[in-house]
Amino acid sequence: MRDSLPYVLILYYSRHGATRSMAEQLAAGVESCPGIEARLRTVPPVSPTCEAVDPEIPAEGAVYVELDDVRHCAGLALGSPTRFGNMAAPLKYFIDSTSALWLNGVLVDKPATAFTSTSSLHGGQETTLVSMLLPLLHHGMIYAGLPYSETDLMTTTVGGTPYGASHVAGQRSDQPLADVERRLLRAQGKRLARLALALANQREVS
Ligand SMILES: Cc1cc2nc3c(=O)[nH]c(=O)nc-3n(C[C@H](O)[C@H](O)[C@H](O)COP(=O)(O)O)c2cc1C
Repeated sequence: MRDSLPYVLILYYSRHGATRSMAEQLAAGVESCPGIEARLRTVPPVSPTCEAVDPEIPAEGAVYVELDDVRHCAGLALGSPTRFGNMAAPLKYFIDSTSALWLNGVLVDKPATAFTSTSSLHGGQETTLVSMLLPLLHHGMIYAGLPYSETDLMTTTVGGTPYGASHVAGQRSDQPLADVERRLLRAQGKRLARLALALANQREVS
């Protein structure tokens, strides 16, 4: 018997807060699905000097992720600001520390998704989402983007892609989430939660 609810891990990096706001909306989507929780976690920044050590508790936002948060999740959402069309180094640095989980196949057949924030409309959202998809596939996860049954995808003039939710934060990263971006994040969170529950049940019977 499980003594706590299964959870979707929402693991993000955010320097200026845009990706963090996205993570919180995605979490609301997860929690709109009965029987599963959202667990928000972040990663520390990386420093050009290897000696730099950050405080154990971040000044704001979610606490830092531990490997066990990843090990026991029922589903995983990765969020990162776009950095030159790619995920940010701190998130990649953490992912590169997950070899032990990969060796044991702990994420195999679990669902995953990704979300990103850019300053400009055509600043590489899809490539960043794909950059996060790659390690998820290596871990054997089942990637779920956003289906076009979310009709906002057809009409959005800001963020929102079939590869995952996105946000156009503006040059100063200070634009709030647009309603359409918020709806898509919630839909993505809810879908990931539903898939996480379904696949968890399936793993139990097989
Ligand atoms: C090193 C670096 C590279 C960036 N590369 C891009 C880029 O390729 N395209 C883009 O639109 N924005 C780029 N940005 C802007 C961030 O993606 C954008 O400000 C994002 O919204 C920040 O998210 P955050 O508020 O969660 O930190 C870059 C920012 C930095 C610091």
